[in-house]
Amino acid sequence: MTTVAKSTRRATRARTLPGAEAVFGHLLRISRALAGRLDFQAAIQSVSAELGDVLPHDHLDVCLLESGGHIHAAYEAGLHTDWSLTPHPVPVSGSPIRSILLGETHLMVTGDATQDPRFRFAGAFNHPIFDQNLRSRIHAALLVRGEVIGAFSCSKHDADFYGEDDVTLARHVAEVLAPYFYALRAAEDARRLAIEEAEGRAREEGLREGALRLTEELERERQRIGMDLHDQTLADLTRIVRRLETLREGPVEPGSLSPAIDGLHRCVDELRRIIDDARPNVLELFGFAEGVEDFLGRALHDSGIAWRLEDESDGRVDALDPALRIALFRIVQEAVNNAARHAEPSLIEVGVAIRQDGALRIEVRDDGAGFAPMPQRRRVGGIRNMQTRARLISADFFLDRQPGGQGTLMSLVLPAKGAAR
Ligand SMILES: Nc1ncnc2c1ncn2[C@@H]1O[C@H](COP(=O)(O)OP(=O)(O)OP(=O)(O)O)[C@@H](O)[C@H]1O
Ligand SMILES: [Mg+2]
Repeated sequence: MTTVAKSTRRATRARTLPGAEAVFGHLLRISRALAGRLDFQAAIQSVSAELGDVLPHDHLDVCLLESGGHIHAAYEAGLHTDWSLTPHPVPVSGSPIRSILLGETHLMVTGDATQDPRFRFAGAFNHPIFDQNLRSRIHAALLVRGEVIGAFSCSKHDADFYGEDDVTLARHVAEVLAPYFYALRAAEDARRLAIEEAEGRAREEGLREGALRLTEELERERQRIGMDLHDQTLADLTRIVRRLETLREGPVEPGSLSPAIDGLHRCVDELRRIIDDARPNVLELFGFAEGVEDFLGRALHDSGIAWRLEDESDGRVDALDPALRIALFRIVQEAVNNAARHAEPSLIEVGVAIRQDGALRIEVRDDGAGFAPMPQRRRVGGIRNMQTRARLISADFFLDRQPGGQGTLMSLVLPAKGAAR
C-alpha cells in the first residue's frame, strides 16, 4: 500500500526539473557508482554526489532494519546526526518514520517536519530533525521481494521544497538502492559471523593451550613437592634414624633423645607446610573466607604489609563445587603473591561480595607501585594461569591499575549461573 502524505505545501521552489531521460541517466549512474562501493558509507556518499543536481538535499540517509525490531544502522551524507552516531541499535518504535519501517506505508512526504504531528510522538528519536532544522522531507521504503528492509530519506532545510516529481524520483532511487543495500547487509552479516566464528575458535584454542599450561604447572608442582620431601624431610628423617640407631647400641642417657625429638618436630612442621601448600587444608575444613584469611596471615606475616579481608558473600563460595572453589582460591593466592612480590604495597585488600545481579565478585586490591604496561613485564606465567583458571570456570577476569588510583586491581566475576547455590 502506498500513501502520499498530504503536507501543507505552499509553493514548490521554482527549479528546472530534469526530463525522464535525464532521470534515467542519473539512476544508471547511481547504480554504476554503487557497483564499486563495498561499504555503506562510501555508497551513500556516492549516491548523494550523484543526486546533488536532480534531487537537491541538505541531508540524505539510508537506514536498515535488523531482526528484533531494531534499526540496524543509519548511513548519512550531507550532515551527520545522532541517527548515525548512536552506537547502539535504536528501536523502530522510536523512529520518526516508524510507519514505513513497520510496513504501514511505503512513503512519507512532508513540507515541514518540525510542524508535522506524524514526526512528533512520545519517545520519538526525532531531535536531529529539530536540531538540524530538516523541514522538507521525503522518505521511501527500501523493498526487497515485498519486504521492507529499511528506508531512504532526503531532506532540505527549506520548507515546502519538494514537489511530486521529486517524490517520484526519490522512489526510483529507493528502488535502485534496495537490492544493493540488501546484498551489502547480507555480506556484512556474513563477514561478522565469520569474525565471531574465528574469535570463538581462537578462544577455544587459547583455552586448550591454557589448560595444557596448567597441567604442566601441576606437573612442576608435583616435582617440587617430590624435591621438597626428598631434600628436606627425607634427609632430616634419615639423620634422625641414624641417631636413633646409634642410641640403640648403648644405654640411653637422659636428654640424649632430645635432638632426635626436636628433629621429628621439625619434620612434622615441614610436612605440614608441604601438604598445606599442595592442598589448602583450611579451605576444605573451614571454608573459603577462613582459607583466604589463613593464607593472607601466612603469606604476609613478616612482610610489613597490612591486609584486610571483607567477605559479604554470606558463605556463597562454600556452596560451590569444590573444584571451582579451589580455582577461585588459587587465583586469589596468585594475585596476593604478585601484589606482595612486585608492588611493595602497604595494604592488600581482598573483597568477596554478591552483586545485585547475583554474580559473585572477588577483588584483590593493592596500593603499591601499579601494574607496568606489557613490554615492561618480564614474566606472565602467573597471570596466564589466573586467566586460564578464570576461563575454565567461565568467570570474567580483569587485572589492571586501579581505576583512577594507585596500585593494582584484580577482579573476578562469576556469573549468577555459576555462582548459584
Ligand atoms: N599487583 C601487581 N603490582 C605490580 N606489578 C604486578 C602485579 N601483579 C603482577 N605484576 C607484574 O606482572 C608481571 C607478571 O606477573 P606473573 O604473575 O605473570 O609473573 P611473576 O609473578 O613475575 O612470576 P610467576 O610466574 O612466578 O607468577 C610481574 O612480573 C610484575 O611485573
Ligand atoms: Mg606471579
